[in-house]
Amino acid sequence: MKKSIVEVIHPTSLKNCRAGHPWITLDEHSAEFSKNADLLEIVPLNDIFINDPTHPKIKARYWGKSDIPFDMDIEFRLSEAILKRSEIVDRENVFLCFGEVDSLPGMYVLKLGDVILIQYQAYFWNKHIGIIVDFIKRRFKEIKSIYKQSRLYGSVKVTPKKVWGETNSNLIIDEFGIKYNVFLEDYHDVGIYTDMSSIRKKLFPYYSKSKNVLNLFSYTGAFSLLGLKNALEVTSVDISSKFMSILESNIQLNSFDEDKHTSVVKPVDKFLKNNDQLFDLIICDPPSFSSNKKKSQSAISFYKENLNTLMNMLSPQGRLIMFLNTHKISRSKFKRSLPRGLKIEKELFTGRDCPLLKGFPEGDYLKGYIVFNG
Ligand SMILES: C[S@@+](CC[C@H](N)C(=O)[O-])C[C@H]1O[C@@H](n2cnc3c(N)ncnc32)[C@H](O)[C@@H]1O
Repeated sequence: MKKSIVEVIHPTSLKNCRAGHPWITLDEHSAEFSKNADLLEIVPLNDIFINDPTHPKIKARYWGKSDIPFDMDIEFRLSEAILKRSEIVDRENVFLCFGEVDSLPGMYVLKLGDVILIQYQAYFWNKHIGIIVDFIKRRFKEIKSIYKQSRLYGSVKVTPKKVWGETNSNLIIDEFGIKYNVFLEDYHDVGIYTDMSSIRKKLFPYYSKSKNVLNLFSYTGAFSLLGLKNALEVTSVDISSKFMSILESNIQLNSFDEDKHTSVVKPVDKFLKNNDQLFDLIICDPPSFSSNKKKSQSAISFYKENLNTLMNMLSPQGRLIMFLNTHKISRSKFKRSLPRGLKIEKELFTGRDCPLLKGFPEGDYLKGYIVFNG
């Protein structure tokens, strides 16, 4: 490991760090941080930070005190993180470690059935991921393979790469009694969003109260499959025929009733213009920013243009579950952007394996609202 170097911190960054914010962002001081050290000791904190010379905005991530050898500290923190999630047994789709929340900044470890996927967002891990891999091999004897995936800011999107064990080109995992095809070698995202898992569980009561569901931006259909498991009529809308065919293969995998499902492959706004059906439950999870040949749109502008239409498509007791998935817009800003008369029944947060850190609003990137007409 490259030596640690003493750097000076700006008073505002110091205040933020002491309030629990685990990043030192770009300013005139942090711009001068060494490019050649793995660890930084920041004065006057005298705690350790991991250096991030490649990130344009996050220059250092808080590690804290480290009184034991650094490799051992990584293993200790990872083992604590795993222990915290040991009670999650109703799904094979869990974050074992969730970056800053587990004092392993930029490091995310997912368990997908008997495969481990290590994703990292901080350059530091490019060089030190071996410590995580070795620990996982010792800790989980039943694991068949370990994959890694770099998700560094601004870099080209890459698929996971196998670092150990069997090739797992088509893995099947179980979440709350529903099976999913998971694709470790073909896509940047593997076919199911783990951070949505605990939110899906919170929605069970809404599914049991409904007769039909509309899943907008349905991807591979996690929210649609929940509807089919509850024997509801389900309509899924996605622009991608590739993802829709994965959704359909997930329906077959579970032997759900295909006649209860309608696949619509088209842009959501086009679907909304021609729909005259009412729904008891509408799930809407637009990408933070999307663009096709004809149109570019942010999730915020999507809601500005279409929220009224969505509310008019709800049956009298219906609920719209709306998501915004970006750390760039805070929860309070998103809330302020919603129409004043909108009735919010509940807010949704990532939970259990992806909890929030006090003082770290960027960690609250996945914002959900359950809204109704009243
Ligand atoms: C964030 S994913 C949705 C994830 C899904 N809710 C889940 O949890 O599994 C966004 C999806 O929106 C689709 N998409 C992007 N732009 C679209 C558009 N204009 N109309 C319909 N689908 C779109 C993408 O193909 C992708 O499948």
